[in-house]
Amino acid sequence: MCVVRSQQDVTAFYLTALASGEPTAERLSAPVSDRFASFVNAVDRRAPRTALDLGYGRGTYTLALARAGFQVVAVDQVPTHILQARLMGLPDWAGRIEAVQQRIENFSITRRFGLVVAKDVLHYLRQDQVREILTRCIQRAPAGTGHFLEVFTDITRTDRRGRRVLIEDEAAYAADTFRTTIERLYTGWDRHMSLTPHCERNTDSAHNYFEANRITLRAYRTIDVETHR
Ligand SMILES: C[S@@+](CC[C@H](N)C(=O)[O-])C[C@H]1O[C@@H](n2cnc3c(N)ncnc32)[C@H](O)[C@@H]1O
Repeated sequence: MCVVRSQQDVTAFYLTALASGEPTAERLSAPVSDRFASFVNAVDRRAPRTALDLGYGRGTYTLALARAGFQVVAVDQVPTHILQARLMGLPDWAGRIEAVQQRIENFSITRRFGLVVAKDVLHYLRQDQVREILTRCIQRAPAGTGHFLEVFTDITRTDRRGRRVLIEDEAAYAADTFRTTIERLYTGWDRHMSLTPHCERNTDSAHNYFEANRITLRAYRTIDVETHR
């Protein structure tokens, strides 16, 4: 037996979680990972100091990038006032953040970003939508650009009654399919991919709600390949 949740259910979930600030199994308030910090350090200094954060959530990655000197466009489906409330009272660097309420699949890339991050979000899109948004980012990527993606593959969700839970129009990637997609899209880029098993429990029980593999991609459109070795 299987239950299908709609994209509207997903939006409502994040709206409630982000507006309330209550802890969730996804740890939306977790600090940026060491993987991300080392990725940012490795981005070529000659790349534009402009960044795009797709599916910014609480905005932790957006804030880290702005603090590091990037002009950041932060895109999420939730209303921007939630992030703007978090920016109140922060130093001047918070003024480098432009929050946009938009579905990622409808976001048009008109600027050139030296850094793109999409963490724990692309699995919610259809596979053709993932290919399209990444293609748009890649086509407009200046030399030196870095892309950081964390994408869940091989997802199993189980509700408290033991029913399998699917989300309407989700990518449902197998790890190999996602890896192949990346290899085809990022031809000529310096790529590093890793896979980490991941599971999440409901906050109030020992029940494993979500099990998946998380694939991390760090890709650099190199000016000089030796720069990132
Ligand atoms: C798991 S959270 C990740 C947040 C953040 N990237 C992080 O890692 O801390 C997923 C975020 O993606 C957003 N999201 C999911 N599907 C989306 C879509 N199709 N378009 C825009 N935002 C989306 C949700 O609103 C939520 O804020």
